[in-house]
Amino acid sequence: LSRQGFPAGFVFGTAASAYQVEGMARQGGRGPSIWDAFAAIPGTIAGNGSADVTVDEYHRYKEDVGIMKDMGFDAYRFSISWSRIFPDGTGKVNQEGVDYYNRLIDYMLQQGIAPYANLYHYDLPLALHQQYLGWLSPKIVGAFADYAEFCFKVFGDRVKNWFTFNEPRVVAALGYDNGLHAPGRCTKCPAGGDSRTEPYIATHNIILSHAAAVQLYREKYQPHQKGRIGILLDFVWYEPHSDSNADQAAAQRARDFHIGWFLDPITNGCYPSSMLKIVGNRLPGFSADEARMVKGSIDYVGINQYTSYYMKDPGAWNQTPVSYQDDWHVGFVYERNGVPIGPRANSDWLYIVPWGMNKAVTYVKERYGNPTMILSENGMDQPGNVSIADGVHDTIRIRYYRDYITELKKAIDNGARVVGYFAWSLLDNFEWRLGYTARFGIVYVDFNTLKRYPKDSALWFKNMLSEKKRS
Ligand code: GCO
Repeated sequence: LSRQGFPAGFVFGTAASAYQVEGMARQGGRGPSIWDAFAAIPGTIAGNGSADVTVDEYHRYKEDVGIMKDMGFDAYRFSISWSRIFPDGTGKVNQEGVDYYNRLIDYMLQQGIAPYANLYHYDLPLALHQQYLGWLSPKIVGAFADYAEFCFKVFGDRVKNWFTFNEPRVVAALGYDNGLHAPGRCTKCPAGGDSRTEPYIATHNIILSHAAAVQLYREKYQPHQKGRIGILLDFVWYEPHSDSNADQAAAQRARDFHIGWFLDPITNGCYPSSMLKIVGNRLPGFSADEARMVKGSIDYVGINQYTSYYMKDPGAWNQTPVSYQDDWHVGFVYERNGVPIGPRANSDWLYIVPWGMNKAVTYVKERYGNPTMILSENGMDQPGNVSIADGVHDTIRIRYYRDYITELKKAIDNGARVVGYFAWSLLDNFEWRLGYTARFGIVYVDFNTLKRYPKDSALWFKNMLSEKKRS
């Protein structure tokens, strides 16, 4: 496996997000986000970990960009912290935050690392949640569009690859359905909520916010800045448990509730028919104008692909749906005839299934008209892997990357228009509710000293990428 086998111009990079790597959460003029408030509640994060410092990329970005360059990567997918730019979500700008992203972007360009900037990775300014419950209110659409426009205006002379949102499905499912992510809402959560309706409302407002930002970009910035813009979607591959019609229908339903939720509106202007049928009037509708704005609102799409599950027809189940999960997910299993779908990583949701990569990408190609795709996240946390001595020798991770990238290449060779690949992540970092107990980096971080140690997998990438880049 080497980069020579990939199409001309194919980009290799690593991905991360602001809250997970920046640190300086309470400094540099940054306002709090819903994650600061959520993580401060005792018991929500493993080991009560906090992202106040995390891996301190805010100060160490030169070192991190240097590692990327040394490994031969072409690009870095990072996210901008909304409350570092607008501490209250709207209104007053924090120039110190703007300066930070300018330093980061300029240094990346100087080192030959292309910036792929994402505007939202889970970190809503707390003020907007306090004022009107953030994503649950249609007011958020204007606030997001203003923030997005500011970023286009200020950074768009140098950033040519934009994403609006990362994994809106996860925002809905973990933020508003089971409460495991900020803002921690669900029917039974202490923060309150309604798992039957809020996941769908939050997502609807995210889709409208995405479309509004894209429209602005296309009208006012793209003509002279000449960048591209899209959205980042997580996609678990759902394999039918058997070839029975019922299991195939269950798997299709799962794909609809997972990625069709976004790609159907973006491609056709409406939600998937399976969702309309099951969710009924709990699913908000698009007006004709909104549908027009949403349809076609990507120049490319990022697919985050880590794992695959089996889907089994659960029979009659959702007589009284109580949550988004209950609407479709009943019937998913990790094994068939006692054999797991693949070996498990450290994280309980992550099974290693390389062939699912090819199927997932091929599915997007076939069902959604072969959009330009970026494989925008892929990676794993290796079991064990805690001490430095053990952690840097990540043989399982090397095999994971080799096998997944090989399967991605099969999909590309069969015509899928994938133009880039990003590993999650360069560094071990703050892994949301798992805190510092899940290490996804190809570079080990000693969280006491913040020293970085390239793992064997980083050297594997370096070797794979060392052949001259095709242009
Ligand atoms: C995302 C992901 C990342 C995770 C990674 C490993 O939303 O893009 O949640 O932030 O750190 O997927 O679990």
